[in-house]
Amino acid sequence: MANQEDIFKKVISHAKEYGYVFQSSEIYDGLSAVYDYAQNGVELKKNIREYWWQAMVQLNDNIVGIDAAIFMHPTTWKASGHVDAFNDPLIDNKDSKKRYRADVLIEDHVAKIEAKIEKEVKKAAKRFGDSFDKEQFLATNQRVLDYQTKVDGILKRMGKSLENEDLADVKSLIEELEIACPLSGSKNWTDVKQFNLMFGTKLGASADSAMDLYLRPETAQGIFVNFLNVQKTGRMKIPFGIAQTGKAFRNEIVARQFIFRMREFEQMEMQYFIKPGTQQEWYEKWKEKRMKWHLSLGMGEDNYRFHDHEKLAHYADAAADIEFRFPFGFKELEGIHSRTDFDLSQHEEFSGKKLQYFDPEENKSYVPYVLETSIGLDRMFLAVFSNSLKEEELENGTTRTVLKIPAVLAPTKAAVLPLLKRDGLPEVAHKLIDELRWDFNVIYDEKDAVGRRYRRQDAAGTPFCVTVDHQTLEDETVTIRHRDTMEQQRVKLSEVKDIISKEVDMRYWLQKI
Ligand code: GAP
Repeated sequence: MANQEDIFKKVISHAKEYGYVFQSSEIYDGLSAVYDYAQNGVELKKNIREYWWQAMVQLNDNIVGIDAAIFMHPTTWKASGHVDAFNDPLIDNKDSKKRYRADVLIEDHVAKIEAKIEKEVKKAAKRFGDSFDKEQFLATNQRVLDYQTKVDGILKRMGKSLENEDLADVKSLIEELEIACPLSGSKNWTDVKQFNLMFGTKLGASADSAMDLYLRPETAQGIFVNFLNVQKTGRMKIPFGIAQTGKAFRNEIVARQFIFRMREFEQMEMQYFIKPGTQQEWYEKWKEKRMKWHLSLGMGEDNYRFHDHEKLAHYADAAADIEFRFPFGFKELEGIHSRTDFDLSQHEEFSGKKLQYFDPEENKSYVPYVLETSIGLDRMFLAVFSNSLKEEELENGTTRTVLKIPAVLAPTKAAVLPLLKRDGLPEVAHKLIDELRWDFNVIYDEKDAVGRRYRRQDAAGTPFCVTVDHQTLEDETVTIRHRDTMEQQRVKLSEVKDIISKEVDMRYWLQKI
């Protein structure tokens, strides 16, 4: 079996070869951690955004959307705490001169211990066969328990040191764990220092009068500053939500892992405004709701897990990540944060304007609490794309590369293929395309033998191929081939649209939530 690194390399090259993701300004050798979405990528991204929007806005009476500007008044970022607290703890290796996020070095060390636990589990599962009880094994095996105690101890200490801004202890922890620079293997580290992640820019023409601005590092603040506008104009009653998708910018230092960690990326966020004291209940509800959204795509329950935060962000009283099994291991895909009244109270203080809700049931005004769900669109893209890419051994001994993107998200839903380029078959194919394109993206492909065309569409992620042949001219039937099973069925031309629609319509997928 190929190792994780090889699989990930394959994902990146496949994304380029099949028109999903290109490096930004590639002809100038690219820009680190900045990427462009290509002709298929833009469609997949749009479909994921739409799948999120329908689930969050269209299907919830009490959630509405906005689209706030990327530029915001600079005081926003003072109030939100980003100017003072949106930092990463960085450490340099003196020999390789490479800079790392100190917490990531420690987390990578922890991941290695966790990998040992998984190895023990796999070994035991093999030994005990059907009678293996994973829960019991995790709770009783001494070696696993020792590893787990180690993991818990490290994370707890790191969380505490970061929370107390005790950067000297973060460095001590790195030294005690004997963490070496992945590049040079050296343990010769500088002190840990804080580094602000926001990109600065200027508004205005003349140097003297120009105003310092930041590119927003999260979309959430555009929602907070509009809270009262939306509540009043939409006559919203608590609990209610405001959702938004849009670009965010962070000067990431650990800029690797393809589109997992980018400097310019897109978020899909929702702030749910609630009565103070109900945050625990909503925190649990939204954790469950968001996990159901993920599972509805059928990408495998085993590929997701919750991870409670050790170190809480400056605004949160509880936070968890939904982690996904990426090709490089389980990593954060989405965050669910109980943000208390931190943001609205801060904006009240810095703007001098009241940001309160009059609760008719309580007959009083208060600053609402906020429950946030925040997912990176690019990360979701990577989750879908990497999980879908498969090399399958076929019965005839050959292999096929197939991109099993959930049909509802696939960029192109069907390819229409005339068996031959003559005898009137292309004309029938074009006529079918003209009918189907009103409902979904469909392409025409007449080059090469039909088997090769099937393979090409498999690799591009197209869930259906419709083949027009001589029999079509006689009885108005075509063959539909299903990408995932490679099954073929003979159906009436007039049924094609309904058969495909049924499987790609968001309604059928979102009903599972
Ligand atoms: N408003 C809360 C917030 O921004 P976050 O955990 O910093 O929270 C939320 O970010 C989500 O945004 C993450 O779970 C991740 O999916 C995505 N994200 C964050 N930084 C990213 C980056 N540099 N590149 C791509 N996605 C990123």
